[in-house]
Amino acid sequence: MMESCCCPVKFSALHSAQGVSPSYTCRINSNAFQHKTLSLPSQQFIQLTHRQCLYNGVWPFLSSKTHRWAVYAESGQKSWDFGRFFQTLYFFNGPPNPAKIIASLLEKVSSSTSIESVEKMEISDIVLVAGATGGVGRRVVDILRKQGLPVRALVRNKQKARTMLGPDVDLVVGDITKEETLAPEYFKGVKKVINAVSVIVGPKEGDTPDREKYSQGIKFFEPEIKGDSPEKVEYIGMRNLINAVQSRTGLRDGKLLFGLKGNLSGKLFWGALDDVVMGGVSESTFQIDPSGSEDGGPTGLFKGTVSTANNGGFTSIRTKNFSIPEDLSAYDGIEMRVKGDGRRYKLIVRTSSDWDTVGYTASFDTKDGQWQTIKIPFSSLRPVFRARTKDDAPPFDPSHIFSLQLMYSKFEYDGKLNPTFVEGAFQLPFSSIRAYINEPLTPRFVHVSSAGVTRPGRPGLDLSKQPPAVRLNKELDFILTYKLKGEDLIRESGIPYTIVRPCALTEEPAGADLIFDQGDNITGKISREEVARICIAALGSPYACNKTFEVKSTIPFSEPFTVDPSNPPPEKDYDVYFKTLKEGITGKEALEGNPAPYIIQPICATCEAILNTI
Ligand SMILES: NC(=O)c1ccc[n+]([C@@H]2O[C@H](COP(=O)([O-])OP(=O)(O)OC[C@H]3O[C@@H](n4cnc5c(N)ncnc54)[C@H](OP(=O)(O)O)[C@@H]3O)[C@@H](O)[C@H]2O)c1
Repeated sequence: MMESCCCPVKFSALHSAQGVSPSYTCRINSNAFQHKTLSLPSQQFIQLTHRQCLYNGVWPFLSSKTHRWAVYAESGQKSWDFGRFFQTLYFFNGPPNPAKIIASLLEKVSSSTSIESVEKMEISDIVLVAGATGGVGRRVVDILRKQGLPVRALVRNKQKARTMLGPDVDLVVGDITKEETLAPEYFKGVKKVINAVSVIVGPKEGDTPDREKYSQGIKFFEPEIKGDSPEKVEYIGMRNLINAVQSRTGLRDGKLLFGLKGNLSGKLFWGALDDVVMGGVSESTFQIDPSGSEDGGPTGLFKGTVSTANNGGFTSIRTKNFSIPEDLSAYDGIEMRVKGDGRRYKLIVRTSSDWDTVGYTASFDTKDGQWQTIKIPFSSLRPVFRARTKDDAPPFDPSHIFSLQLMYSKFEYDGKLNPTFVEGAFQLPFSSIRAYINEPLTPRFVHVSSAGVTRPGRPGLDLSKQPPAVRLNKELDFILTYKLKGEDLIRESGIPYTIVRPCALTEEPAGADLIFDQGDNITGKISREEVARICIAALGSPYACNKTFEVKSTIPFSEPFTVDPSNPPPEKDYDVYFKTLKEGITGKEALEGNPAPYIIQPICATCEAILNTI
């Protein structure tokens, strides 16, 4: 039964019916609904001026039970299905709920602040440096800042970090071994990460406060693990860090929002949203076609019949609001796989949970009978409200996506018409909707690991020629084993990555000639400053993406490397090195009995002699 309502109800555009301007008002007493003739002058449609009620899912006169009434419009003389109208509202807004009225009123009262904060929010590409107080990490922070890039330092000790990095560095305090310390707000605006965190190694006899002994090299002292174990830092810590940043850095294959492989079909709840909300008679549905996809598998289907009767002319399917808004700030746009029919459709993305709100919209053309990938960059979405471009709308905020909508409409925007519009039946199979990152991909997570991580347990290895960490892996609580496990986590995470494996680190300046290698075979030394530069260069290089490599300088251990400050070596183009690297080589091939081709590096007699001593 309907609840009665004392006030007359005025209907208005409930939805941005593309190309139609709302002006008509029609008064109906709720208890006199059956077979009502509505007079709908041309270019006008039903309004509900008790908008607050409908927008927020609060209907003044309808029980949760839906009814089917036919209402006739004089213009076009087609019966308008009042029952469908209310079903639509019910699907998207749920039953009437007094609590929502209060919530909505409160929201409206405080809306000025929320709009302000949306407008102020900028999508910044902050580089998070984890392990920013370490030998490599602090140099990374320094160089990034000198380059004028936005940096945030994740540190354990604020005081130490302030002294080391300066008073104005953006600091967040956390311990990667403790998940709860990695607060989500630390990662706002972060798009890239350089991870130089490491389990702490130090001399058994102790070190100076600034870790002088450690810095000069592990081969000069008897090392032990200080503090948290390698398992905790290199493996569990890495897992925590990846979990904390993944939604910010994004995934190389994109984020699937809709797709019928696996269990994803249930994730989005699509409902029809047709011109019935403005008095029209067009009709559409979302269906699953069990064998309609390219590979004969299931696909989503947006199908229906569109009619211009009663000044209508659009159909659409819209998802219910996501229970948790999607954060797509790591991505550059939305990509759909659709089978076209030669017509122009629209994708509408909403960044507000409100029902009747600005929809960030893009039209896309399809090719008849062809499966095609449609890419809609976020930058191409225009704010549209009731078919009018809203120039004063806040910029599109990809961090708060509440719903998606696919539309087939007679109308474009601002009074223009869809040039491909044809009345009648249509269908648009769509097998996936995902957020994508622009090509070419560049790394979003650069990790400083270590040469030697695949060497413990490698058959046929002459340990006497290996660095101390390889020989002492067991004594150092399996430091390299856990570093490798940590690397595997990042390789498997789906985040575009680079893993840099330096040989023994020195405090020498950058600038020596370098040897990049893969397969985890080389030994030697390299400056921390150089490693920091390599990490930063990797962040911007498609050639470094999804690569794991070792690096050392050509300078033998026995030879100190110095630079004349008045005549520094030229800046390196690290792309020259990155271009030589391949994906998929880690050195684990040797452990798995499938050795990667060993690239023989020229080695001088002095180096060989030194290597034999460490
Ligand atoms: N030493 C070598 O010869 C050598 C050779 C090859 C590869 N590597 C590797 O190269 C990388 C960089 O070396 P490095 O000399 O720069 O290392 P480092 O100076 O020891 O720096 C380690 C950093 O990690 C931080 N850290 C440790 N545990 C943490 C935790 N639970 N949460 C957050 N931060 C934590 C430390 O913070 P605190 O300042 O608070 O301690 C410090 O900032 C390391 O992975 C290292 O193993 C070293």
